[in-house]
Amino acid sequence: MKLVKTLAEFESARKLLEDKTVGFVPTMGALHEGHASLIRRAVAECGAVVVSDFVNPTQFNNKDDFNTYPRVLEQDCAFVESLGAAVLFAPSVEDIYPAGTDYDKKVFDLGGLDRYGEGPRRPGHFNGMAQVVTRLFEIVRPDRAYFGEKDFQQLAIIEYFVRNLGLGIKIVRCPIAREADGLALSSRNKLLSPEQRAAAPHIYESILKVREMVGRMPVGKAVESVTSLIDGNSLLKTEYVEIINSLTLRPVTDWDEAEHLRLTCAVYAGHVRLIDNIEIK
Ligand code: PAF
Repeated sequence: MKLVKTLAEFESARKLLEDKTVGFVPTMGALHEGHASLIRRAVAECGAVVVSDFVNPTQFNNKDDFNTYPRVLEQDCAFVESLGAAVLFAPSVEDIYPAGTDYDKKVFDLGGLDRYGEGPRRPGHFNGMAQVVTRLFEIVRPDRAYFGEKDFQQLAIIEYFVRNLGLGIKIVRCPIAREADGLALSSRNKLLSPEQRAAAPHIYESILKVREMVGRMPVGKAVESVTSLIDGNSLLKTEYVEIINSLTLRPVTDWDEAEHLRLTCAVYAGHVRLIDNIEIK
């Protein structure tokens, strides 16, 4: 595996992959088993796999979150190598957003999919994410790109702009990877204290209960019940719970309003913000 840190080095590495189906797994590093499941799938389905490791400043609406985001490139490098990827691309901010270009100023049509959930709570986040993902797509030129359903809204938005911009890249949806106790894998889990880590599986346990509430109480009541179940643990504080139409991402008020429903949530454990979601139907 090649670790490349500049655009010029990446170009040389990319030339060697010209005749292969290139799979791409964009990440912000601090890799865990969730990323491993994406990389393994990409390795199984593609001729060569590129993984990127770049903490994108334009998608953080909170400076502290950006500053404290875990950065462990050496560790990531050994991990990616063990999974059989061809290239780990860890570019600088200057390579992704060169001075004198407008890559960090572009405004994307996100199809209104940023109107709910994370959108209003993290202003600018999805536009910043679209800036970096389209820029990375332009550099890496993948045939297929792999994203986890943990960031359900991000995935829906990526599918939208890839279609809308006619990028011709196949977006592959991958299921959420969880710890044995149910906690969704996330790089942010590393920031939890031992007590917060012990409390965090309570999020998944609580959201699963919504499946028993379907049709038995109004949607609003179910949202309230799940919220109080989560907040029943004194180390957790719900920011939001929503039951959404899985296609439009719009919160529903009736169980029959859409064919496919999902529960999405964001919960604080101290300063660490955790998100999760499950399919309802
Ligand atoms: O999901 C992430 O880790 C990031 O949002 C992504 C897609 C790598 C863009 O920075």
